[in-house]
Amino acid sequence: MTENSPIAVITGGAAGIGWSIGQRLLADGYRVIATDVVPGFTASSDDVLWRELDVTDHGQAATVFDGIVAEFGQIDVLVNNAGIQRHRALEELSWAEWEAVVNVNLHGVFNTLQAGGRHMLERGEGRIVNISSVSARGSAGRAPYSTTKAAVIGLTATAGAEWASRGVRVNAVAPGYVDTGVFRQGVAAGTLDVDTILSRIPAKRLADASEVAAAVSFLVSDDASYMNGQTLYVDGGFMVDYGIPLAKKPSP
Ligand SMILES: NC(=O)c1ccc[n+]([C@@H]2O[C@H](COP(=O)([O-])OP(=O)(O)OC[C@H]3O[C@@H](n4cnc5c(N)ncnc54)[C@H](O)[C@@H]3O)[C@@H](O)[C@H]2O)c1
Repeated sequence: MTENSPIAVITGGAAGIGWSIGQRLLADGYRVIATDVVPGFTASSDDVLWRELDVTDHGQAATVFDGIVAEFGQIDVLVNNAGIQRHRALEELSWAEWEAVVNVNLHGVFNTLQAGGRHMLERGEGRIVNISSVSARGSAGRAPYSTTKAAVIGLTATAGAEWASRGVRVNAVAPGYVDTGVFRQGVAAGTLDVDTILSRIPAKRLADASEVAAAVSFLVSDDASYMNGQTLYVDGGFMVDYGIPLAKKPSP
């Protein structure tokens, strides 16, 4: 990493998958600016720079991105990763729970996608990855989460279509189950059962955050130069299987 290294900005970069993406992009040669709402967060790696940003705040997003461009000249890569989860049966979900998840997972992605995207469009160059989830296909007990993660896929496709001819590529990564914050909260609350989940994943294990980061790394690289508006699933085969085992092994 040097003064001339490309600039990568991550939202929700203080922990979990966002932290891992930061480490991966650092290793790829980016100057990484991790943003997060956590008060007083200071990145534990000297190499990662930090800016406080609550993605639900439209005005703050514009100010932070303008500040980064003023200081570093440009934003080459943006990863919209910040996300939260609330588990509740649909009929019992409070308005506050619904609103909180929609504000972070959908309005937050819009806010930073637009704030970062505008600078990239002005420059005619940039790569963006939004973090969706396998829950986008519908997930009992996670109505706002599933809804927002599906919406992120639609927003990604739309941004990809609008900005492709102007030098800005926008794609999404949809992780399966990763042993980080959003997943751990569900397990701790007793609303996610690890054994049941593992039985439904063809790979029979959770994802490591670094495996999600590797997909992000690919999508922002020149190797993905013709990918736009796509959602890449990193899920151990979860989306292509219904968890029904073979009744007996096929004969050779
Ligand atoms: N863990 C999983 O199994 C899993 C699976 C699929 C998708 N995802 C998605 O990956 C992303 C990261 O999840 P994680 O498991 O690493 O979660 P995490 O809780 O470990 O990290 C999320 C980060 O987002 C930050 N954040 C929360 N609200 C914010 C706000 N308003 N503004 C800015 N930052 C905010 C948190 O402070 C935290 O640092 C989320 O979008 C999540 O939905 C996670």
